[in-house]
Amino acid sequence: MNSFMRTLVLFFLLFNYSFAVEKTIDAPAYTQELKHSYIVEDIVVKTPTKTGYSGVPGAKLWRSVRSGALHSTQVIGDDAGILINAYGEDWRLLKDQIASIDIILIPLALITVALIYLIFGKFKLSKGFSGKLIERFKFTEIVIHWGTAASFIILGLTGLMLLFGRFFLIPLLGEEAFATLVEFSMDTHDIIGPVFSVFLIAMIIKFIKDNFYQKGDINWLLNGGGLFGKHVDAWRFNLGEKMWFWIVFFAGMLITLSGYIMLFTGIVSGQREIIELMNILHTASATLMILGMFGHIYMGVALEGSMSAMTTGKVDENWAKDHHNLWHKNIKD
Ligand code: HEM
Repeated sequence: MNSFMRTLVLFFLLFNYSFAVEKTIDAPAYTQELKHSYIVEDIVVKTPTKTGYSGVPGAKLWRSVRSGALHSTQVIGDDAGILINAYGEDWRLLKDQIASIDIILIPLALITVALIYLIFGKFKLSKGFSGKLIERFKFTEIVIHWGTAASFIILGLTGLMLLFGRFFLIPLLGEEAFATLVEFSMDTHDIIGPVFSVFLIAMIIKFIKDNFYQKGDINWLLNGGGLFGKHVDAWRFNLGEKMWFWIVFFAGMLITLSGYIMLFTGIVSGQREIIELMNILHTASATLMILGMFGHIYMGVALEGSMSAMTTGKVDENWAKDHHNLWHKNIKD
């Protein structure tokens, strides 16, 4: 059946449903409901409810429609016989809840980090710069890092636009301009998603070996990572960086996996609930990573001498002694 015919059949069925509802509103008793429309009979008789006829006009019909039970239809498709997907409403509410949390949490985290930076400024090196440079990252590691960062930031911006852009931008731009913007965001998100996944895998492969727990890491944490003046030992990556790595690992993998499932919905065709679950996992893990990223960027910017590690690949020897003394000792020996 071609798509025009399908649309026609769907329209016909919908028309009959609404006709049935109209009739049941007037019907005082169950038997009368049955007389009025064979579609009402189909739904009511084949889908028994626990409470039976409640006396509310059309209640039984709608309870039956929302039950998610598969009814018969000529429309072809895995769940075409379900007129209303009741779980869809639960999903929409949950998604809107995440969106409303994000609207508050993300700007709040950004403002907090910016305020901390403005109040405390940069954390200076204890003995200033020595002028002696040592290699910290290889060129490939730098390319992988910025590839992951750039693609993640694009995904974050376009993803947030899809999640709650409508609340701010429709009043500002109008519906038509917003529709164009959101379509552009969707296309960009779909293209950059796979790019991010490739960089993510490369980053995991490159950095994983230095991100397992090492002796003394817990001491670093118990002493607040040396932020309160006391020097603490650290290996190539301190426990804070290791925690960030594992957030990137787990949240990044979840984002990627759920993203691919949503991108190729055909893989789980007919399992709408799986797509809805993927959508929630995708949004929640992306939120976690966006928040973690603010902390990560703060450390990169606030610690004097850190940024050169990821731009030129080199750091000052005094930076290495201050922040990663066990790693420094290792490469010198
Ligand atoms: C503009 C944003 C970013 C800036 C300024 C930044 C800066 C930095 C700097 C300076 C380092 C080196 C730290 C050191 O030498 O110990 C670093 C390491 C790292 N960054 Fe970023 N970064 C950014 C975004 C990201 C994003 C979005 C991700 C992940 C998606 C990421 C993941 C990592 C990882 C995994 C490491 C190595 C630390 C480890 O493996 O524990 N970065 N970053």
